[in-house]
Amino acid sequence: MLTYDSNGFRLDGRPLRILSGAVHYFRSRPEQWPDRLAAVRAMGLNTVETYVPWNLHEPAPGRFTRLDELGAFLDEAHRQGLWTIVRPGPYICAEWDNGGLPGWLTARVGRRARTSDPGFLAAVDAFFDVLLPQVVERQWGRPGGTVLMVQVENEYGAHGSDADYLAHLARGLRERGITVPLFTSDGPEDHMLAAGTVPGVLATVNFGSDPEGAFAALRRHRPEDPPFCMEYWNGWFDRWGGPHHTRDAGDAADALRRILAAGGSVNLYMAHGGTNFGTTAGANHADPPFNSTDWTHSPYQPITTSYDYDAPLDERGLPTAKFDAFRQVIADFAAEHPELARYLDHREPELPAPAPVLDAREVLLDEYAELPFGPAVHSPVPPLFEELGLEHGLVRYTTTVPDRSPDLPLTVEGLHDRATLHLDGKPAATLERGVAPEPVTAGGGTRIRLLVESLGRVNYGPQVGETKGLTGVRHERQYLHGWQAEPLPLAPLPTPAWTPGTPAPELLARGTLHLDAPGDTFLTVPEGEHGYLWVNDFLLGRYDTRGPQHTLYCPWPLLRPGPNTLTLLELGPTTPSRIHLHPSPDLG
Ligand code: GLA
Repeated sequence: MLTYDSNGFRLDGRPLRILSGAVHYFRSRPEQWPDRLAAVRAMGLNTVETYVPWNLHEPAPGRFTRLDELGAFLDEAHRQGLWTIVRPGPYICAEWDNGGLPGWLTARVGRRARTSDPGFLAAVDAFFDVLLPQVVERQWGRPGGTVLMVQVENEYGAHGSDADYLAHLARGLRERGITVPLFTSDGPEDHMLAAGTVPGVLATVNFGSDPEGAFAALRRHRPEDPPFCMEYWNGWFDRWGGPHHTRDAGDAADALRRILAAGGSVNLYMAHGGTNFGTTAGANHADPPFNSTDWTHSPYQPITTSYDYDAPLDERGLPTAKFDAFRQVIADFAAEHPELARYLDHREPELPAPAPVLDAREVLLDEYAELPFGPAVHSPVPPLFEELGLEHGLVRYTTTVPDRSPDLPLTVEGLHDRATLHLDGKPAATLERGVAPEPVTAGGGTRIRLLVESLGRVNYGPQVGETKGLTGVRHERQYLHGWQAEPLPLAPLPTPAWTPGTPAPELLARGTLHLDAPGDTFLTVPEGEHGYLWVNDFLLGRYDTRGPQHTLYCPWPLLRPGPNTLTLLELGPTTPSRIHLHPSPDLG
Protein backbone atom coordinates (compact mmCIF):
# COMPACT_ATOMS: atom_id res chain seq x y z
CA MET A 1 0.00 0.00 0.00
CA LEU A 2 1.25 3.51 -0.86
CA THR A 3 0.91 5.98 2.00
CA TYR A 4 2.30 9.47 2.50
CA ASP A 5 2.82 12.31 4.91
CA SER A 6 4.68 15.61 4.71
CA ASN A 7 8.02 13.76 4.74
CA GLY A 8 7.36 11.61 1.70
CA PHE A 9 5.92 8.32 0.50
CA ARG A 10 6.00 4.83 1.99
CA LEU A 11 5.28 1.71 0.01
CA ASP A 12 4.23 -1.23 2.16
CA GLY A 13 5.72 0.62 5.11
CA ARG A 14 9.17 1.36 3.64
CA PRO A 15 10.17 4.84 2.43
CA LEU A 16 10.11 5.39 -1.33
CA ARG A 17 11.04 8.29 -3.57
CA ILE A 18 8.89 8.09 -6.71
CA LEU A 19 11.24 8.64 -9.68
CA SER A 20 8.88 8.63 -12.63
CA GLY A 21 8.95 9.47 -16.32
CA ALA A 22 6.05 10.07 -18.71
CA VAL A 23 5.72 7.73 -21.70
CA HIS A 24 2.40 7.82 -23.56
CA TYR A 25 1.44 4.39 -24.87
CA PHE A 26 -0.49 6.08 -27.68
CA ARG A 27 2.60 7.93 -28.97
CA SER A 28 4.65 4.87 -29.92
CA ARG A 29 3.81 1.48 -31.43
CA PRO A 30 3.10 -1.39 -28.99
CA GLU A 31 6.09 -3.32 -30.43
CA GLN A 32 8.32 -0.49 -29.20
CA TRP A 33 7.03 -0.35 -25.61
CA PRO A 34 9.50 -2.93 -24.25
CA ASP A 35 12.51 -0.91 -25.47
CA ARG A 36 11.08 2.42 -24.42
CA LEU A 37 10.31 1.16 -20.92
CA ALA A 38 13.63 -0.67 -20.55
CA ALA A 39 15.38 2.61 -21.39
CA VAL A 40 13.28 4.46 -18.80
CA ARG A 41 14.38 1.92 -16.21
CA ALA A 42 17.99 2.20 -17.40
CA MET A 43 17.88 5.96 -16.73
CA GLY A 44 17.38 5.02 -13.09
CA LEU A 45 13.64 5.74 -12.89
CA ASN A 46 11.43 3.36 -10.93
CA THR A 47 8.00 4.42 -12.30
CA VAL A 48 6.37 5.26 -15.63
CA GLU A 49 3.40 7.56 -16.01
CA THR A 50 0.81 7.73 -18.79
CA TYR A 51 -2.27 9.74 -19.65
CA VAL A 52 -5.34 8.09 -21.22
CA PRO A 53 -6.85 9.96 -24.22
CA TRP A 54 -10.62 9.52 -24.08
CA ASN A 55 -11.13 10.50 -27.74
CA LEU A 56 -8.82 7.69 -28.88
CA HIS A 57 -10.93 5.16 -27.01
CA GLU A 58 -14.41 6.50 -27.83
CA PRO A 59 -14.21 7.85 -31.39
CA ALA A 60 -18.02 7.91 -31.71
CA PRO A 61 -20.70 7.98 -29.00
CA GLY A 62 -20.77 4.62 -27.23
CA ARG A 63 -18.25 3.03 -29.62
CA PHE A 64 -15.34 2.02 -27.36
CA THR A 65 -12.11 0.76 -28.86
CA ARG A 66 -8.47 -0.11 -28.05
CA LEU A 67 -9.12 -0.02 -24.26
CA ASP A 68 -6.91 -3.05 -23.69
CA GLU A 69 -3.89 -1.10 -24.98
CA LEU A 70 -3.72 0.64 -21.61
CA GLY A 71 -3.72 -2.69 -19.78
CA ALA A 72 -1.12 -4.13 -22.15
CA PHE A 73 1.13 -1.11 -21.55
CA LEU A 74 0.80 -1.42 -17.77
CA ASP A 75 1.62 -5.13 -18.04
CA GLU A 76 4.73 -4.32 -20.07
CA ALA A 77 5.78 -1.83 -17.37
CA HIS A 78 5.54 -4.68 -14.87
CA ARG A 79 7.74 -6.89 -17.07
CA GLN A 80 10.29 -4.07 -17.23
CA GLY A 81 10.28 -3.62 -13.45
CA LEU A 82 8.46 -0.29 -13.26
CA TRP A 83 5.67 0.95 -11.04
CA THR A 84 3.04 3.02 -12.84
CA ILE A 85 0.95 6.18 -12.51
CA VAL A 86 -2.24 6.56 -14.56
CA ARG A 87 -3.84 9.88 -15.49
CA PRO A 88 -7.20 9.02 -17.08
CA GLY A 89 -8.51 12.58 -17.50
CA PRO A 90 -11.26 12.91 -18.64
CA TYR A 91 -9.35 16.02 -19.82
CA ILE A 92 -5.58 15.55 -20.30
CA CYS A 93 -4.28 18.60 -22.25
CA ALA A 94 -1.03 16.90 -23.47
CA GLU A 95 -0.89 18.72 -26.84
CA TRP A 96 -3.42 16.07 -27.86
CA ASP A 97 -6.49 16.80 -29.98
CA ASN A 98 -9.13 18.58 -27.84
CA GLY A 99 -7.11 17.73 -24.70
CA GLY A 100 -8.48 14.19 -25.06
CA LEU A 101 -12.16 15.15 -24.97
CA PRO A 102 -14.17 13.59 -27.81
CA GLY A 103 -15.01 16.21 -30.45
CA TRP A 104 -18.51 14.75 -30.91
CA LEU A 105 -19.13 15.31 -27.18
CA THR A 106 -17.79 18.86 -26.88
CA ALA A 107 -19.75 19.84 -30.00
CA ARG A 108 -22.84 18.77 -28.05
CA VAL A 109 -22.06 20.06 -24.54
CA GLY A 110 -19.94 23.10 -25.47
CA ARG A 111 -18.96 25.21 -22.46
CA ARG A 112 -20.53 22.61 -20.13
CA ALA A 113 -17.49 20.36 -20.62
CA ARG A 114 -15.29 20.06 -17.52
CA THR A 115 -18.16 21.02 -15.21
CA SER A 116 -20.73 19.19 -13.13
CA ASP A 117 -23.26 19.47 -15.98
CA PRO A 118 -25.22 16.19 -15.86
CA GLY A 119 -24.90 15.56 -19.61
CA PHE A 120 -21.11 15.86 -19.49
CA LEU A 121 -20.85 13.76 -16.32
CA ALA A 122 -23.01 10.99 -17.82
CA ALA A 123 -20.59 10.70 -20.75
CA VAL A 124 -17.56 10.65 -18.40
CA ASP A 125 -19.21 7.99 -16.23
CA ALA A 126 -19.94 5.77 -19.24
CA PHE A 127 -16.29 6.03 -20.31
CA PHE A 128 -14.96 5.34 -16.82
CA ASP A 129 -17.25 2.30 -16.57
CA VAL A 130 -15.47 0.62 -19.47
CA LEU A 131 -11.96 2.05 -18.97
CA LEU A 132 -11.30 1.68 -15.28
CA PRO A 133 -11.36 -2.14 -15.07
CA GLN A 134 -8.03 -1.93 -17.01
CA VAL A 135 -6.58 0.03 -14.09
CA VAL A 136 -8.42 -1.52 -11.14
CA GLU A 137 -7.07 -5.03 -11.68
CA ARG A 138 -3.50 -3.71 -12.09
CA GLN A 139 -3.28 -1.73 -8.86
CA TRP A 140 -0.32 -2.32 -6.60
CA GLY A 141 -1.02 -5.22 -4.28
CA ARG A 142 -2.87 -7.29 -6.89
CA PRO A 143 -0.96 -10.02 -8.80
CA GLY A 144 1.13 -8.35 -11.52
CA GLY A 145 -0.17 -4.95 -10.41
CA THR A 146 1.98 -1.82 -10.60
CA VAL A 147 -0.40 1.16 -10.40
CA LEU A 148 0.63 3.34 -7.48
CA MET A 149 -1.60 6.36 -7.98
CA VAL A 150 -4.40 7.71 -10.21
CA GLN A 151 -4.94 11.35 -11.16
CA VAL A 152 -8.20 13.30 -10.98
CA GLU A 153 -8.68 15.57 -14.06
CA ASN A 154 -5.66 17.60 -15.18
CA GLU A 155 -4.54 21.04 -14.02
CA TYR A 156 -8.18 21.82 -13.34
CA GLY A 157 -7.18 24.99 -11.46
CA ALA A 158 -5.96 26.43 -14.77
CA HIS A 159 -9.47 26.05 -16.17
CA GLY A 160 -12.30 26.24 -13.67
CA SER A 161 -13.50 26.19 -10.10
CA ASP A 162 -16.42 23.71 -10.11
CA ALA A 163 -15.67 21.76 -6.92
CA ASP A 164 -18.71 19.52 -7.47
CA TYR A 165 -17.19 18.36 -10.76
CA LEU A 166 -13.87 17.34 -9.17
CA ALA A 167 -15.69 15.69 -6.26
CA HIS A 168 -17.82 13.68 -8.71
CA LEU A 169 -14.70 12.46 -10.53
CA ALA A 170 -12.90 11.46 -7.33
CA ARG A 171 -16.01 9.66 -6.08
CA GLY A 172 -16.42 7.96 -9.47
CA LEU A 173 -12.86 6.62 -9.35
CA ARG A 174 -13.41 5.25 -5.83
CA GLU A 175 -16.81 3.75 -6.63
CA ARG A 176 -15.33 1.92 -9.63
CA GLY A 177 -12.69 0.25 -7.48
CA ILE A 178 -9.64 2.55 -7.45
CA THR A 179 -8.18 2.03 -3.97
CA VAL A 180 -4.66 3.47 -4.45
CA PRO A 181 -4.10 7.16 -3.63
CA LEU A 182 -5.79 9.72 -5.88
CA PHE A 183 -4.07 12.99 -6.69
CA THR A 184 -4.52 16.25 -8.59
CA SER A 185 -1.81 18.21 -10.41
CA ASP A 186 -1.73 21.97 -10.92
CA GLY A 187 0.52 24.91 -11.67
CA PRO A 188 2.19 26.29 -8.52
CA GLU A 189 -0.06 29.40 -8.47
CA ASP A 190 -2.23 30.01 -5.43
CA HIS A 191 -5.56 30.32 -7.28
CA MET A 192 -4.79 27.18 -9.30
CA LEU A 193 -3.88 25.14 -6.23
CA ALA A 194 -6.95 26.49 -4.45
CA ALA A 195 -9.45 25.50 -7.20
CA GLY A 196 -7.70 22.46 -8.66
CA THR A 197 -7.35 20.44 -5.47
CA VAL A 198 -9.86 18.21 -3.71
CA PRO A 199 -10.15 17.78 0.07
CA GLY A 200 -8.60 14.46 1.08
CA VAL A 201 -6.88 13.99 -2.30
CA LEU A 202 -3.09 14.40 -2.61
CA ALA A 203 -2.03 17.62 -4.36
CA THR A 204 1.02 17.83 -6.68
CA VAL A 205 2.56 20.66 -8.73
CA ASN A 206 3.81 21.01 -12.32
CA PHE A 207 6.77 23.20 -13.30
CA GLY A 208 9.95 23.46 -15.38
CA SER A 209 12.16 25.54 -13.08
CA ASP A 210 12.40 26.99 -9.55
CA PRO A 211 11.62 23.76 -7.65
CA GLU A 212 12.11 25.46 -4.29
CA GLY A 213 9.52 28.16 -5.06
CA ALA A 214 7.00 25.68 -6.47
CA PHE A 215 7.30 23.29 -3.52
CA ALA A 216 6.96 26.24 -1.11
CA ALA A 217 3.67 27.18 -2.85
CA LEU A 218 2.46 23.59 -2.56
CA ARG A 219 3.42 23.50 1.12
CA ARG A 220 1.40 26.68 1.78
CA HIS A 221 -1.70 24.86 0.53
CA ARG A 222 -0.87 21.36 1.68
CA PRO A 223 1.51 21.28 4.66
CA GLU A 224 0.53 17.62 5.16
CA ASP A 225 1.38 16.47 1.58
CA PRO A 226 4.86 15.40 0.35
CA PRO A 227 6.52 17.50 -2.38
CA PHE A 228 5.81 15.91 -5.77
CA CYS A 229 6.42 17.49 -9.17
CA MET A 230 3.94 15.62 -11.37
CA GLU A 231 5.22 17.30 -14.55
CA TYR A 232 8.82 18.38 -14.59
CA TRP A 233 9.01 19.99 -18.05
CA ASN A 234 12.53 19.07 -19.13
CA GLY A 235 11.81 19.94 -22.78
CA TRP A 236 8.91 21.43 -24.71
CA PHE A 237 6.62 20.81 -27.69
CA ASP A 238 6.67 22.48 -31.13
CA ARG A 239 4.01 24.02 -33.32
CA TRP A 240 3.92 24.34 -37.09
CA GLY A 241 5.61 27.55 -38.18
CA GLY A 242 7.31 28.07 -34.83
CA PRO A 243 10.85 27.38 -33.56
CA HIS A 244 12.10 23.93 -32.51
CA HIS A 245 12.37 23.92 -28.72
CA THR A 246 15.34 22.45 -26.93
CA ARG A 247 16.57 22.71 -23.36
CA ASP A 248 20.18 22.41 -22.35
CA ALA A 249 20.88 19.03 -20.70
CA GLY A 250 23.00 20.55 -17.93
CA ASP A 251 20.37 23.11 -17.04
CA ALA A 252 17.63 20.43 -17.05
CA ALA A 253 19.76 18.12 -14.89
CA ASP A 254 20.41 20.92 -12.41
CA ALA A 255 16.65 21.43 -11.89
CA LEU A 256 16.19 17.66 -11.43
CA ARG A 257 18.98 17.60 -8.83
CA ARG A 258 17.27 20.43 -6.96
CA ILE A 259 13.88 18.66 -7.05
CA LEU A 260 15.45 15.59 -5.44
CA ALA A 261 17.47 17.68 -2.96
CA ALA A 262 14.25 19.39 -1.88
CA GLY A 263 12.85 15.99 -0.92
CA GLY A 264 10.69 15.82 -4.03
CA SER A 265 9.27 12.92 -5.94
CA VAL A 266 9.19 13.62 -9.65
CA ASN A 267 7.61 12.68 -12.97
CA LEU A 268 9.70 13.76 -15.97
CA TYR A 269 7.43 15.26 -18.61
CA MET A 270 8.41 13.67 -20.96
CA ALA A 271 10.82 10.73 -20.50
CA HIS A 272 9.95 9.75 -24.08
CA GLY A 273 7.70 12.07 -26.08
CA GLY A 274 6.98 10.06 -29.22
CA THR A 275 4.76 10.98 -32.15
CA ASN A 276 1.33 12.55 -32.73
CA PHE A 277 0.33 9.94 -35.29
CA GLY A 278 -2.59 10.45 -37.64
CA THR A 279 -4.74 13.44 -36.78
CA THR A 280 -4.16 13.26 -33.02
CA ALA A 281 -2.08 16.44 -32.59
CA GLY A 282 -3.77 19.25 -30.66
CA ALA A 283 -3.26 22.98 -31.00
CA ASN A 284 -2.72 26.02 -28.87
CA HIS A 285 -4.38 29.37 -29.11
CA ALA A 286 -2.52 32.46 -28.00
CA ASP A 287 -5.40 34.05 -26.15
CA PRO A 288 -5.58 37.78 -25.48
CA PRO A 289 -5.08 39.12 -21.95
CA PHE A 290 -7.90 37.94 -19.72
CA ASN A 291 -9.57 41.36 -19.48
CA SER A 292 -9.52 41.95 -23.24
CA THR A 293 -12.18 41.14 -25.79
CA ASP A 294 -9.86 41.67 -28.74
CA TRP A 295 -9.42 38.28 -30.38
CA THR A 296 -7.76 39.54 -33.54
CA HIS A 297 -4.23 38.90 -32.28
CA SER A 298 -4.87 35.36 -31.05
CA PRO A 299 -3.35 33.05 -33.60
CA TYR A 300 -4.18 29.38 -33.84
CA GLN A 301 -1.05 27.27 -33.34
CA PRO A 302 -1.36 23.64 -34.44
CA ILE A 303 1.05 21.16 -32.84
CA THR A 304 3.59 19.30 -35.01
CA THR A 305 3.44 15.59 -35.77
CA SER A 306 6.62 14.98 -33.80
CA TYR A 307 6.26 15.03 -30.01
CA ASP A 308 9.99 14.50 -29.50
CA TYR A 309 9.78 17.13 -26.75
CA ASP A 310 13.59 17.25 -26.54
CA ALA A 311 13.07 14.49 -23.96
CA PRO A 312 15.91 12.34 -22.58
CA LEU A 313 14.81 9.59 -25.00
CA ASP A 314 14.33 11.02 -28.48
CA GLU A 315 11.40 10.24 -30.79
CA ARG A 316 13.19 7.09 -31.99
CA GLY A 317 13.74 6.02 -28.39
CA LEU A 318 17.48 6.70 -28.37
CA PRO A 319 19.17 8.17 -25.30
CA THR A 320 20.30 11.80 -25.67
CA ALA A 321 22.79 13.92 -23.69
CA LYS A 322 19.87 14.69 -21.38
CA PHE A 323 19.46 10.97 -20.69
CA ASP A 324 23.11 10.72 -19.60
CA ALA A 325 22.84 13.85 -17.45
CA PHE A 326 19.64 12.62 -15.75
CA ARG A 327 21.04 9.13 -15.24
CA GLN A 328 24.01 10.67 -13.42
CA VAL A 329 21.77 12.80 -11.18
CA ILE A 330 19.66 9.76 -10.28
CA ALA A 331 22.72 7.54 -9.71
CA ASP A 332 24.19 10.16 -7.35
CA PHE A 333 20.89 10.37 -5.49
CA ALA A 334 20.64 6.57 -5.23
CA ALA A 335 24.20 6.34 -3.91
CA GLU A 336 23.39 8.87 -1.21
CA HIS A 337 19.92 7.51 -0.36
CA PRO A 338 19.83 3.80 -1.19
CA GLU A 339 16.84 3.38 1.14
CA LEU A 340 14.78 5.89 -0.90
CA ALA A 341 15.79 5.01 -4.47
CA ARG A 342 14.04 1.65 -4.44
CA TYR A 343 12.96 -0.49 -7.37
CA LEU A 344 10.24 -3.01 -8.14
CA ASP A 345 12.85 -5.71 -8.71
CA HIS A 346 16.60 -6.14 -8.39
CA ARG A 347 17.50 -6.82 -12.00
CA GLU A 348 20.36 -4.75 -13.33
CA PRO A 349 18.70 -2.52 -15.97
CA GLU A 350 20.10 -2.55 -19.48
CA LEU A 351 19.81 -0.06 -22.31
CA PRO A 352 18.21 -1.89 -25.25
CA ALA A 353 20.06 -2.04 -28.57
CA PRO A 354 18.69 0.55 -31.03
CA ALA A 355 16.36 -0.66 -33.79
CA PRO A 356 17.97 -0.90 -37.26
CA VAL A 357 17.78 2.17 -39.52
CA LEU A 358 17.05 2.10 -43.27
CA ASP A 359 19.57 3.63 -45.66
CA ALA A 360 18.76 6.85 -47.53
CA ARG A 361 16.74 6.22 -50.67
CA GLU A 362 13.96 7.48 -52.89
CA VAL A 363 10.52 6.04 -53.67
CA LEU A 364 8.86 7.14 -56.93
CA LEU A 365 5.12 7.72 -56.92
CA ASP A 366 3.51 6.06 -59.90
CA GLU A 367 -0.21 5.68 -59.18
CA TYR A 368 -2.87 8.28 -58.53
CA ALA A 369 -6.43 8.34 -57.25
CA GLU A 370 -9.26 10.81 -56.77
CA LEU A 371 -10.02 11.58 -53.13
CA PRO A 372 -12.54 8.94 -51.94
CA PHE A 373 -15.10 11.30 -50.42
CA GLY A 374 -18.10 9.88 -48.58
CA PRO A 375 -21.71 10.47 -49.70
CA ALA A 376 -22.77 14.10 -50.08
CA VAL A 377 -24.95 15.74 -47.45
CA HIS A 378 -27.21 18.61 -48.56
CA SER A 379 -27.88 21.48 -46.20
CA PRO A 380 -28.83 25.17 -46.37
CA VAL A 381 -25.70 25.99 -44.32
CA PRO A 382 -22.30 24.29 -44.50
CA PRO A 383 -22.55 21.47 -41.90
CA LEU A 384 -19.77 21.28 -39.31
CA PHE A 385 -17.42 18.27 -39.32
CA GLU A 386 -19.07 17.05 -36.12
CA GLU A 387 -22.51 17.26 -37.75
CA LEU A 388 -21.17 15.00 -40.49
CA GLY A 389 -19.88 12.48 -37.91
CA LEU A 390 -16.30 13.37 -38.82
CA GLU A 391 -13.75 13.94 -36.05
CA HIS A 392 -10.98 15.02 -38.45
CA GLY A 393 -9.95 14.98 -42.07
CA LEU A 394 -11.33 17.02 -44.96
CA VAL A 395 -14.72 18.18 -46.16
CA ARG A 396 -15.43 19.38 -49.69
CA TYR A 397 -18.11 22.07 -49.54
CA THR A 398 -19.73 23.26 -52.77
CA THR A 399 -22.45 25.71 -53.74
CA THR A 400 -23.25 28.24 -56.47
CA VAL A 401 -23.61 32.03 -56.25
CA PRO A 402 -27.23 33.00 -57.11
CA ASP A 403 -27.80 34.11 -60.70
CA ARG A 404 -27.92 37.79 -61.69
CA SER A 405 -25.51 38.79 -58.89
CA PRO A 406 -22.78 41.23 -59.84
CA ASP A 407 -19.12 40.51 -59.01
CA LEU A 408 -18.93 40.99 -55.22
CA PRO A 409 -16.50 40.04 -52.44
CA LEU A 410 -16.71 36.60 -50.79
CA THR A 411 -16.11 36.18 -47.04
CA VAL A 412 -15.49 32.78 -45.45
CA GLU A 413 -16.60 32.84 -41.82
CA GLY A 414 -15.49 30.71 -38.88
CA LEU A 415 -12.93 28.70 -40.84
CA HIS A 416 -11.40 25.82 -38.84
CA ASP A 417 -8.68 25.52 -39.96
CA ARG A 418 -7.41 25.68 -43.54
CA ALA A 419 -9.09 25.66 -46.94
CA THR A 420 -8.34 25.83 -50.62
CA LEU A 421 -10.97 27.85 -52.48
CA HIS A 422 -11.79 27.04 -56.10
CA LEU A 423 -14.02 29.23 -58.27
CA ASP A 424 -15.48 27.50 -61.33
CA GLY A 425 -12.91 24.72 -60.91
CA LYS A 426 -9.87 27.02 -60.74
CA PRO A 427 -7.75 27.59 -57.61
CA ALA A 428 -8.51 31.07 -56.23
CA ALA A 429 -7.00 31.20 -52.72
CA THR A 430 -5.63 29.29 -49.76
CA LEU A 431 -7.32 30.41 -46.56
CA GLU A 432 -6.01 29.91 -43.04
CA ARG A 433 -7.70 30.45 -39.73
CA GLY A 434 -6.50 33.64 -38.10
CA VAL A 435 -4.69 34.89 -41.21
CA ALA A 436 -6.14 37.83 -43.19
CA PRO A 437 -7.16 36.45 -46.63
CA GLU A 438 -6.46 37.96 -50.05
CA PRO A 439 -9.69 39.61 -51.28
CA VAL A 440 -11.68 37.35 -53.63
CA THR A 441 -14.76 38.27 -55.66
CA ALA A 442 -17.33 36.18 -57.53
CA GLY A 443 -20.35 36.91 -59.71
CA GLY A 444 -23.71 35.18 -60.26
CA GLY A 445 -23.54 31.51 -61.28
CA THR A 446 -19.96 31.00 -59.99
CA ARG A 447 -19.36 27.48 -58.62
CA ILE A 448 -17.75 27.77 -55.18
CA ARG A 449 -15.70 24.87 -53.85
CA LEU A 450 -13.93 24.91 -50.49
CA LEU A 451 -11.79 21.96 -49.43
CA VAL A 452 -11.61 22.43 -45.67
CA GLU A 453 -9.06 20.69 -43.48
CA SER A 454 -8.93 20.30 -39.71
CA LEU A 455 -5.49 20.80 -38.18
CA GLY A 456 -6.25 19.66 -34.63
CA ARG A 457 -8.52 20.92 -31.88
CA VAL A 458 -7.17 23.34 -29.30
CA ASN A 459 -6.07 21.39 -26.21
CA TYR A 460 -5.57 24.18 -23.66
CA GLY A 461 -7.51 27.30 -22.71
CA PRO A 462 -10.94 28.67 -23.48
CA GLN A 463 -11.11 27.32 -27.05
CA VAL A 464 -11.04 23.65 -26.02
CA GLY A 465 -14.21 22.12 -27.46
CA GLU A 466 -14.10 24.11 -30.70
CA THR A 467 -15.82 22.68 -33.78
CA LYS A 468 -14.33 22.14 -37.25
CA GLY A 469 -15.43 23.21 -40.70
CA LEU A 470 -16.82 26.69 -41.38
CA THR A 471 -19.86 28.59 -40.22
CA GLY A 472 -20.82 30.35 -43.45
CA VAL A 473 -19.81 32.06 -46.67
CA ARG A 474 -21.14 35.50 -47.53
CA HIS A 475 -21.40 37.11 -50.92
CA GLU A 476 -21.12 40.77 -49.96
CA ARG A 477 -23.44 40.63 -46.89
CA GLN A 478 -25.68 37.84 -48.17
CA TYR A 479 -25.16 34.28 -46.93
CA LEU A 480 -24.82 31.59 -49.58
CA HIS A 481 -27.06 28.55 -49.08
CA GLY A 482 -27.72 25.29 -50.92
CA TRP A 483 -24.53 23.56 -49.73
CA GLN A 484 -23.32 20.11 -50.58
CA ALA A 485 -20.77 18.66 -48.14
CA GLU A 486 -18.67 15.53 -48.78
CA PRO A 487 -16.62 14.20 -45.86
CA LEU A 488 -13.24 12.50 -46.19
CA PRO A 489 -11.91 10.72 -43.10
CA LEU A 490 -8.15 10.10 -43.25
CA ALA A 491 -7.53 7.50 -40.54
CA PRO A 492 -8.51 5.09 -41.86
CA LEU A 493 -8.74 6.35 -45.42
CA PRO A 494 -11.60 4.81 -47.49
CA THR A 495 -10.20 2.66 -50.32
CA PRO A 496 -9.54 4.84 -53.38
CA ALA A 497 -9.61 3.74 -57.06
CA TRP A 498 -5.94 3.72 -58.14
CA THR A 499 -4.85 4.22 -61.75
CA PRO A 500 -1.43 4.76 -63.34
CA GLY A 501 -2.98 8.13 -64.45
CA THR A 502 -1.39 11.55 -64.56
CA PRO A 503 -0.40 13.64 -61.58
CA ALA A 504 -2.70 16.57 -60.70
CA PRO A 505 -3.19 18.64 -57.53
CA GLU A 506 -5.32 17.26 -54.70
CA LEU A 507 -4.96 13.66 -55.76
CA LEU A 508 -3.70 10.76 -53.69
CA ALA A 509 -0.36 9.47 -54.95
CA ARG A 510 1.37 6.22 -54.05
CA GLY A 511 4.55 4.27 -54.64
CA THR A 512 6.17 1.07 -53.42
CA LEU A 513 9.10 0.67 -51.05
CA HIS A 514 10.73 -2.79 -51.31
CA LEU A 515 12.55 -3.89 -48.16
CA ASP A 516 14.61 -6.88 -47.11
CA ALA A 517 13.98 -6.08 -43.48
CA PRO A 518 12.09 -3.31 -41.67
CA GLY A 519 13.89 -0.47 -39.89
CA ASP A 520 13.28 3.02 -38.57
CA THR A 521 13.31 5.76 -41.19
CA PHE A 522 12.55 9.46 -41.59
CA LEU A 523 10.43 10.58 -44.54
CA THR A 524 10.32 13.80 -46.53
CA VAL A 525 8.27 14.92 -49.52
CA PRO A 526 10.83 17.12 -51.32
CA GLU A 527 8.36 18.71 -53.74
CA GLY A 528 5.51 18.85 -51.22
CA GLU A 529 4.21 21.79 -49.23
CA HIS A 530 1.51 20.54 -46.90
CA GLY A 531 -0.23 17.22 -46.66
CA TYR A 532 -0.48 13.73 -45.17
CA LEU A 533 1.62 10.56 -45.44
CA TRP A 534 0.49 6.94 -44.98
CA VAL A 535 2.68 3.87 -44.59
CA ASN A 536 0.83 0.65 -45.43
CA ASP A 537 -2.55 2.23 -44.62
CA PHE A 538 -1.32 3.69 -41.33
CA LEU A 539 -1.57 7.50 -41.30
CA LEU A 540 1.78 8.77 -40.00
CA GLY A 541 0.54 12.35 -39.78
CA ARG A 542 0.78 15.80 -41.29
CA TYR A 543 3.85 17.26 -42.98
CA ASP A 544 4.33 20.95 -43.62
CA THR A 545 7.30 22.75 -45.18
CA ARG A 546 6.82 25.61 -42.70
CA GLY A 547 8.61 23.35 -40.25
CA PRO A 548 10.24 23.39 -37.76
CA GLN A 549 9.96 19.63 -38.32
CA HIS A 550 11.12 18.58 -41.80
CA THR A 551 11.16 14.77 -41.50
CA LEU A 552 8.36 12.45 -40.37
CA TYR A 553 9.43 9.56 -38.17
CA CYS A 554 8.32 6.19 -39.52
CA PRO A 555 8.79 3.51 -36.82
CA TRP A 556 9.97 0.06 -37.93
CA PRO A 557 6.81 -1.83 -36.79
CA LEU A 558 4.85 -0.10 -39.58
CA LEU A 559 7.10 -1.67 -42.24
CA ARG A 560 7.55 -5.30 -43.33
CA PRO A 561 9.89 -7.31 -45.55
CA GLY A 562 8.82 -7.15 -49.22
CA PRO A 563 6.65 -4.43 -50.77
CA ASN A 564 5.38 -1.55 -48.62
CA THR A 565 3.01 1.13 -49.87
CA LEU A 566 3.73 4.80 -49.28
CA THR A 567 0.72 7.05 -49.94
CA LEU A 568 0.51 10.81 -49.83
CA LEU A 569 -2.08 13.52 -50.08
CA GLU A 570 -0.51 16.84 -51.03
CA LEU A 571 -2.75 19.88 -50.57
CA GLY A 572 -0.38 22.42 -52.14
CA PRO A 573 -0.32 23.36 -55.83
CA THR A 574 2.18 20.76 -57.09
CA THR A 575 1.81 16.98 -57.11
CA PRO A 576 5.00 15.42 -55.74
CA SER A 577 6.66 12.66 -57.75
CA ARG A 578 8.79 11.14 -54.96
CA ILE A 579 9.25 10.48 -51.26
CA HIS A 580 12.71 10.43 -49.67
CA LEU A 581 13.89 8.21 -46.82
CA HIS A 582 16.58 9.57 -44.49
CA PRO A 583 18.57 7.79 -41.78
CA SER A 584 18.26 10.64 -39.25
CA PRO A 585 15.67 13.24 -38.26
CA ASP A 586 15.53 16.96 -39.00
CA LEU A 587 13.31 18.58 -36.37
CA GLY A 588 14.52 22.09 -37.20
C1 GLA B 1 0.57 21.04 -18.87
C2 GLA B 1 -0.33 19.86 -19.12
C3 GLA B 1 0.35 18.78 -19.94
C4 GLA B 1 1.09 19.40 -21.11
C5 GLA B 1 2.10 20.39 -20.60
C6 GLA B 1 2.92 21.06 -21.68
O1 GLA B 1 1.34 20.85 -17.79
O2 GLA B 1 -0.77 19.29 -17.91
O3 GLA B 1 -0.64 17.91 -20.39
O4 GLA B 1 0.18 20.02 -21.95
O5 GLA B 1 1.44 21.42 -19.93
O6 GLA B 1 3.55 20.14 -22.46
